[in-house]
Order: sequence, then structure tokens, then C-alpha cells
Amino acid sequence: MKNKFSTFVCQNCGSETSQYFGRCLNCKEWNTIVEENKTQIFKTPKKNKPQTKKAKLFDEITSEKISRFSSGFQEFDRVLGGGIVPGSVVLLGGEPGIGKSTIILQAAGKISLKKKVLYITSEESLEQVKIRWERLNQNCNYLKIYAETNLSFILDEIKNVNPSFAIIDSIQAIHNAEMESSPGSVSQVRICSAELQTFAKENNISLLIIGHVTKDGALAGPKTLEHLVDVVINFEGDKVSSYRLLRSTKNRFGSTFEIGIFEMLEKGLSEIKNPSSIFTNKENISGVTTIISSEGTRPLAVDIQALVNKTFYSNPRRTTTGISINRVHQILAVIEKHLGIKLSEYDCYIATGGGFEINDPSSDLGVAISILSSFKNIPPLENCSFIGELGLSGQLRQINNLRPKIEEAVRLGIKNILVPKTKDNLKTNFANIIKIKEISNIKEAVDYALIQ
Ligand SMILES: Nc1ncnc2c1ncn2[C@@H]1O[C@H](COP(=O)(O)OP(=O)(O)O)[C@@H](O)[C@H]1O
Ligand SMILES: [Mg+2]
Ligand SMILES: [Zn+2]
Repeated sequence: MKNKFSTFVCQNCGSETSQYFGRCLNCKEWNTIVEENKTQIFKTPKKNKPQTKKAKLFDEITSEKISRFSSGFQEFDRVLGGGIVPGSVVLLGGEPGIGKSTIILQAAGKISLKKKVLYITSEESLEQVKIRWERLNQNCNYLKIYAETNLSFILDEIKNVNPSFAIIDSIQAIHNAEMESSPGSVSQVRICSAELQTFAKENNISLLIIGHVTKDGALAGPKTLEHLVDVVINFEGDKVSSYRLLRSTKNRFGSTFEIGIFEMLEKGLSEIKNPSSIFTNKENISGVTTIISSEGTRPLAVDIQALVNKTFYSNPRRTTTGISINRVHQILAVIEKHLGIKLSEYDCYIATGGGFEINDPSSDLGVAISILSSFKNIPPLENCSFIGELGLSGQLRQINNLRPKIEEAVRLGIKNILVPKTKDNLKTNFANIIKIKEISNIKEAVDYALIQ
């Protein structure tokens, strides 16, 4: 039985109201409410099966290790938490054109050498996919392609093919024909993903769903379906550089700290096994330092560049790329207060190497030294790396994962490193390899690393 009615749905968070609002009451976004004509579907309720499952004691439960299979990319597997879990649903989000279809077609080929794979293309024709495949120039074995947008046909075909791994490219382009709202609307995205999720679990098929996101979140976003899936991965990068990053924001089977780094080449995406080399230049010029950021289990060296100029405005300008502007404001305030340098008369631009996004607070010291180095026009101590979180009092706070950072610096051939005071006996461990200078505050760091 069908019954038409209309409802107002926020395209950002998916909350529904019976009336139009200019601003969503739930997520507070403006102009995101759209009227959707819906067809309510009344399904005849299934007869309740007798209860078969019983609660168990912990001792009775055997903890089988999750058996995962590889995506064919080590970088991808790392972000997934060690590979693809059978029966799991992964959402791969990213801006249009970033390379989602490319990386997933490459992975599909690699997986198909060992397992059955079905790639469902709802945006591109079979021919378009084939053209891309030929450009990627790689091998496949059991890889089937199916071009369809209707959800029930898609589910039928997955059943027919019975693959280990199926891909939906993309969720915004498929629709449930029993609903009247258009493909890509929040209602469609939600109902289609819910049905796919149930289907994957019941049939023990791993599903990867591709979803587009735009920077302003204008499209019916994967945001609304993040709670439905097991793993959410974002594919990031800018159109200018060829580097691409995989980062997970939710993972029921692993940590969300890992990142995977790729480069987009003519023949598709290629893994970068030594990422520190692409975010550092190792030049000794004023305004540039190298920090070691923790990205999951992997430390990563990244340059911090600062440009400090006398301002021509009543309010000095502060611009950042790859690092939070609030963090920079805080570092500027610490410098003003504890070194007595009036930066309020100076514009300040900060950028990370390659625009790489840094969230590790231990990058503070490098940012501060870059700013001061540009301000004084003195290059920092040669071949030196900076590690330390700046407290508001100008002190360097202790950090606990210092050793892998120092090891990464050693690997890159860095000869000096400034670190917060530590209880570990690092000096003897690294004697003759790298000169470790323990410092307790910003003033000491400046006296040591910014000398004419
Ligand atoms: N012939 C080509 N040679 C090199 N790169 C290409 C070629 N065609 C497309 N690309 C790259 O692939 C990108 C599109 O990737 P795609 O996987 O379709 O993105 P998405 O699925 O995320 O929208 C383009 O932005 C472009 O950089
Ligand atoms: Mg695509
Ligand atoms: Zn909302």
C-alpha cells in the first residue's frame, strides 16, 4: 500500500520536519531544507520467527580472529585497519574528481585476482569504465561490471553474481523506485544505504559505497549515512597537487588515526611508501622548519613555512594552510607574551609542506620557530627538527610518543632535534646519530636555534 505525503528534509544532517524553515533546527545550517515528496511504504509485517538466539556467558563465546582480505593497496589496508572485513560496509567519500572511481577500480582489479568482485557503476557507462580500465593498464581475473541505477535490480544482480566484494559508484546516483524523491536526496541516500547495509550483513558480502561530498556540504551528504556504515573513509587532496590522502573518520574494526598516501599519475593512483620525503625540502632558509607529526602509527616529517611582514592594514592578516588558525593565534599570543615581541603589527602567513593537514599539537614549536625565524630573518639551526607542544605559559609540555619521531628524523638524515624535557634516556640511545637538545620553554628554543 502506498501513501503520498511531503516532508521537509535537511540535506545536511537529514533531520525531517513537517514545515519549511530557513535554518535547520537540528544542525543549524542555513538553506539546507528541501521539500521531498515521499511515498510511504507499508510493508506487510513479517511473521515473527520463534526466538533462536540465547544470551551467552563470556566464557562460552569463542573469539575468532576477524579474517580480512587485502584491498591490493598496503596504504588502503592500513587505513581500513588491516584489510577488508567480510560482510562490512565501507563508505568512501570525497569531492567529485578527486579519484574515487579510479582508486576503487584499481582495487577491484587487484582483489579480483583472488576473489569475485562486482563493480556497479551508476554514473558512468560500461564503455566509460572500460576506457578508464584501459588507461590504468592492470590485470584482473573475476571482475564483473554492471551499469544500473535502480536499487532493486542492483540487489538482484549482487545476489546473482554472489561476489565477495561489491562496489556501488555512487550512492547519490542510485534510487529506490518505490520512493518518489529524486536520486541524491537525503531520503533516497538513506533508504538505499540502509537496504544495502542489511543486504551485505545477511549475505556476508563486503560492500564499498562511494559518496560525493562538496566542501560546503551542499550535496545530500555521506554525513547522513555515516552512522549506518561500519567504516567511513575520506579521500582528500587538492586539484593542484597530485597527492591524495586516505583518512578514516570512523572504523568499527580499527583505529581512525592511520592515513594512506597516494600520488595521482597518468596510470592511476600509486602508493607513496616514503611520505616524509614529499612534505619536506630540507632547505635551510628563514621561515622554514621541519616538524615530525604523528599520523597513526606512522610519524611523518612535514615542513612548516611562515611569512611575517609588517602590516598595511589596521588589523594584521593571519592566514593558514594545513594548520588550524586558532592554533596559530594561540602560538602568536604565547610569543607576544613570553618573548615580548609585538606581532600585532605584522601579517602572518603559515603553510605546511604540500598543504598537508596537521593536527598534532607537537608541531607548535616548529610553527613558533618558523614565525620567529621569518620575523628575525634568520634561518633556524641547520639540519634541525622541532618537536613540542607549547603551553600557554610558554613552557614545552611533555609528550609521550617521542621515540618514533626521533627515529623518523634519523631516517631522514636530520642531525639536530629539539624536544621537550623527557624522563626517557634518549641521549645515550641516539648518541652519535642525532644531537638531541631537551628544552623547557620557548625562550630556550629561540636562544638555541635562532642565533645569528
Ligand atoms: N586521461 C587521463 N590521464 C590522467 N589523469 C586522468 C585522465 N582522465 C582523468 N584523470 C584524472 O582522474 C580524475 C577523475 O578521477 P575519478 O576517479 O573519476 O574521480 P571521482 O570518481 O572521485 O569523481 C580527474 O580529476 C583527473 O585528474
Ligand atoms: Mg567517480
Ligand atoms: Zn540539519
